[in-house]
Amino acid sequence: MTIVLRARIFHTPRDPFREAGALETVEGALALTDDRVGALGSLTEVQRQYPDAPVLGDGEDYLLPGFVDTHVHYPQMSVVGAMGLTLLDWLRERTLPEEARLADTAYAREVAARFLRALARNGTTTALVFGAHQPPAQGIFFELAAASGLRITSGLVLGDRLLHPALEADPETCYRESETLLRAWHKRGRVRYAVTPRFSVSCSEGVLEAAGALLRSYPDAFFQTHLNEAPAEISAVAELFPWARDYLETYERFGLVTERSLFAHNVHVTGDELTRLAAARSAVAHCPSSNMFIGSGLFPLRRHLDHGVRVALGSDVGGGTGFSLLKEGLMAYQGQMLLGSGPGGGLPLGPAHLLYLATRAGALALGLDDLGDFTPGRQADLVLLRPPEGGTLAEVLAQSPSAEASLGALFTLAREDSVREVFVAGEPLFTRLGLS
Ligand code: GUN
Ligand code: ZN
Repeated sequence: MTIVLRARIFHTPRDPFREAGALETVEGALALTDDRVGALGSLTEVQRQYPDAPVLGDGEDYLLPGFVDTHVHYPQMSVVGAMGLTLLDWLRERTLPEEARLADTAYAREVAARFLRALARNGTTTALVFGAHQPPAQGIFFELAAASGLRITSGLVLGDRLLHPALEADPETCYRESETLLRAWHKRGRVRYAVTPRFSVSCSEGVLEAAGALLRSYPDAFFQTHLNEAPAEISAVAELFPWARDYLETYERFGLVTERSLFAHNVHVTGDELTRLAAARSAVAHCPSSNMFIGSGLFPLRRHLDHGVRVALGSDVGGGTGFSLLKEGLMAYQGQMLLGSGPGGGLPLGPAHLLYLATRAGALALGLDDLGDFTPGRQADLVLLRPPEGGTLAEVLAQSPSAEASLGALFTLAREDSVREVFVAGEPLFTRLGLS
């Protein structure tokens, strides 16, 4: 079955950090053929290919590939906005006590449902999600994620020290409970499993060893954790692992730095760590709103790309300030501007870079090579934007001098009140999620 959507269409089928002209913009139509992109072009061209397909839309909406959030915490939605604290205090005072509440499975179910709706409402169709420490709460999350239609990779969070006591589990328990959840959910529909030690501060060598053993037993599972986020965290890791020359080695030693590994933050990173991350083909989730809100620092994007490290965007809710990858794009732009020009300075970004970071780069970082842009044959994951009538965004767009300028305005001003629908594999999800 094919449908044709008329819209102003934007995508980045090539990498704008490597090639000029990577942004493609089309005022025309996109054909969705079952779960895939069938064609993209002017309405006449697309209708020539699909003469019998129904045409939807008046051409005024903006159509982008669905956003890919490569780092977000399911239990932390209600922590958004907890001001005045840097990372370790923020965890201890606000975040870990909230995560402990997920021992109540009825509450966990409510939180999971709210979280999945928030992703879709913000145009996110794929996410790598830090889960809960409690196996029942993580099982509930997988159940609702599978039913949501979104593409979710997630895992039970592991740690055995320096957390809230109710969140800690010994290495053997970490292994066993992860394996049970992995066997139940990995590759079930659009759900995949990610082995998820919280960070080296909260993981003994035994827990990191258990994580490595899981990856060896299940080599197609994913891996996620935190790395080099804040100075006090990095000092704690140096004290806890005196044998490690740097933070990355605490993961390397246990076989956790692979091409299926994604590390969140990596703000304060050494050149040697970047060289090793690139050699391993690991990816980094850049979470700019969180880095600014928690005061962790400004992300050295240019150094990552110069070393050949793959980078995508993450919202990092609840350290981040919301679920919008459009906003994360804007914050990434602002962070690079603040780093200034010159050696070691910021990388000037434009709308094409922001779109790539929010879509195709995330898909590639998650090993989902067949989504993230509108090349015919890709999975039809998309977000349809229509600015609220009479608002600032509508007025700015009405005066826009070019398609690229319109995309810049969308990143700057469009938020969840502009998101009208998301499609995953060609299927609209708002009704399924109770959003329309
Ligand atoms: N490091 C360990 N846990 C967390 C978390 O929940 N959020 C952030 N931003 N960093 C972390
Ligand atoms: Zn995080």
